[in-house]
Parts: sequence; structure tokens; C-alpha cells
Amino acid sequence: MSSATPAEPTGGSAPAARPRVLSGIQPTSDTIHLGNYLGAVRQWASLQEEFEPFFFIANQHAITVEHDPKKLLERTYRSVAQLLAAGVDPARSAIFVQSQVPEHSQLAWVLECLTGFGEARRMTQFKDKSAKVGEGAVSVGLLTYPMLMAADILLYRPQYVPVGEDQRQHLELTRDLAQRFNHRFKKTFRLPEAYIPKSTAKIMDLQEPRAKMSKSASSPSGLIDVLDDPKITAKKIRSAVTDSDTVVRFDEENKPGIANLLRIHSALSGEEIPALEERYAGQGYGQFKKDLADVVVDFVAPFRERTLALLDDRAHLQQVMAKGADQARAVASRTLADVYDRVGFVAPPPERR
Ligand code: AMP
Ligand code: TRP
Repeated sequence: MSSATPAEPTGGSAPAARPRVLSGIQPTSDTIHLGNYLGAVRQWASLQEEFEPFFFIANQHAITVEHDPKKLLERTYRSVAQLLAAGVDPARSAIFVQSQVPEHSQLAWVLECLTGFGEARRMTQFKDKSAKVGEGAVSVGLLTYPMLMAADILLYRPQYVPVGEDQRQHLELTRDLAQRFNHRFKKTFRLPEAYIPKSTAKIMDLQEPRAKMSKSASSPSGLIDVLDDPKITAKKIRSAVTDSDTVVRFDEENKPGIANLLRIHSALSGEEIPALEERYAGQGYGQFKKDLADVVVDFVAPFRERTLALLDDRAHLQQVMAKGADQARAVASRTLADVYDRVGFVAPPPERR
């Protein structure tokens, strides 16, 4: 086995002038919701100045549960269109689809072989889902989901991975696997850090403000789908659950509904929460919710227009994906070549290198 001396990652991925960031989103719904936007996608657009970004659609993760192929394909296009509508710019970011970069599955296999069966089984997502429906009803893909995610990340040697709080455990496993590989073979992977924005880390359900906003919400009225008819969205905001008090005050513990609405307002309007509390002092919830509905509609209406226009031009979306896949493979194939070499796999024939 090669020496354990830490070496700089080799294989042509010379340190970029800007640190790299990488993130992915699953194409599991026709529209992203406000939690996805504020917790993830919006950050992606804002990271483009400072970082060298790789953003992708995790369509392989989306088949770990039963799925409809037509919907998956359409949602993949929709996801790309929504990233573009959110300001993720193909001239500055590599935007690609996971299944178009085969290195992800190839590295995932190697990482699966470094992961303990019990370790994988204990991951919260697998434990929770299999506890709900029984181990016989979940796929092995659900068990190996975190190793595929680790491969997604490690192939690009990013410094930061912007994700929501719920992905923290996956990031930790990724770091563990990177360390394990580096230690067992040779230093190959950089340890990525989670990049979790504090103020909007968790957007809550409008009807059940102690549960996070999620597409699997028990009732659609708690969920703001960004591509919904803006009229429906305004109505959902106006009927958000609050409390029996009347004071617009940020108190996560005792007033989770209002705290969530204040956080949404502040995230979209850019106004600080204390300034909002002051403005609405003595006004009650009605006015606050009405104004918040306007703030949200001012964001969702143009976002929706932009997305629908992008979806009318499939050829353009295909070009974006093809360019992104080329950019991604240029990096991923070099990392995978290092990995294959270090685990003792025979090198590919020269014409395929
Ligand atoms: P998902 O829809 O679970 O695939 O999540 C896509 C991205 O959005 C991930 O980075 C999540 O952490 C983030 N996310 C999902 N739901 C929320 C939420 N309610 N608040 C903040 N971020 C979220
Ligand atoms: N598991 C992530 C989610 O459900 C999606 C994802 C897959 C991802 N691979 C990734 C996020 C790599 C960041 C980096 O949200």
C-alpha cells in the first residue's frame, strides 16, 4: 500500500482560483417549495461570485423510492429551469444532471465497500423510513443513498456544500468516508464543510409551524409551491396558522407560526426582523399577513413566468445540461482515475483515458 503521508490531491484538479462549492437537489416534485428556495437554491445563485460552483439534479437519488419515469424526466427539466430562473447562471456554474456523469455511480460503489452495513442502517433517513414501512418495503438504494451522496460530493473536492440542516448527517458521513479512504489508501479527498445559512436554515409548514415545510406535508395548505398560481399562494399566507396572541414578535418557542412568517418576510424583503416587529407593533396579524402575501407574490409571480418561458425551450435546457455534464466529467473523471489507481484497479485502456 502506498505511504500514508498526506499528499496534495493529484490528477490535474489543480487548486482553483476560487474555492469550489457543490450542491444537489432531487427532482422529486413539479415545483420547488419556499423551503427549498430559501434554504438552498437562492444561496446557490449568490455563491457564484465568490466560488467555483457545481450544481446538479440528483435524479439517481430520486429512484431510491418508487417513481414514475415520465414524471421524473419532466421534473428533471423543471428543476434545471427553476435553477436558471433563480439566477444560477450556466456561464458561471456547472449545471448538470447526475445520471449524465457516470463517475458518480462508479465512485459510489467504492465508497459502499468502505461503509459498514450497520453504519448505513443507522443513518437517520434510512432508519426512519424503514421503521415507517418496514425493512422489507424499502430498497437497497435507500440504504446506499448516503454513499452515492458522498460520491457526488467527493468527486469534485469542494470546500463547501450548501445544504439545509436536514442534510447535516449525510455531510458528516461524507467526511468520515473521505477520511477513511485517505487514511486507508492515500490522501485523495478533501474534507468538505457544510454551508448552512442560519437565518433561513429551516422554513416551517404554514399550518404546522413546528414541522419543516416539506413536499410530504400532511396538507398542501402548509406548503408554498413556488410555481403555484400566485393567487393560491397569497391565500395560503393569509390563512397561515398563528396563535391566540396578537403581537407580531419573533419568539420561536412560544410563537412558532409568527416566527416563521417573520423569517420568510425578512428573507424575501431584506428587512431585518426587529424592524418588522417595530413596524407591525399594535397592528395585529391581519395586516402583517396581508403585506407578507404581497411580498411573497412579488417574488413567486415573476419566478414562475421565467420558469415557464424556459420550459418552452427544451433544446436550450438540453444544451445547458450537456455543457454542465462536460464540465463535471472533466473534473470527476480525474478524481475517479486517482481513486481507481489507489484501490488497485487496472487502468482503463489508453484510448479511454
Ligand atoms: P429536498 O426537497 O428534501 O430534496 O431538499 C432540497 C434542498 O432544500 C436541501 O438542501 C434541503 O435541505 C433544503 N430544504 C428542504 N426543505 C427545507 C425547509 N423547509 N427549509 C429549509 N431548507 C429546506
Ligand atoms: N440528499 C440531498 C437532498 O435530499 C440531495 C443531494 C444528493 C445532495 N447529492 C447531494 C446535496 C450532494 C448536496 C450534495 O436534499
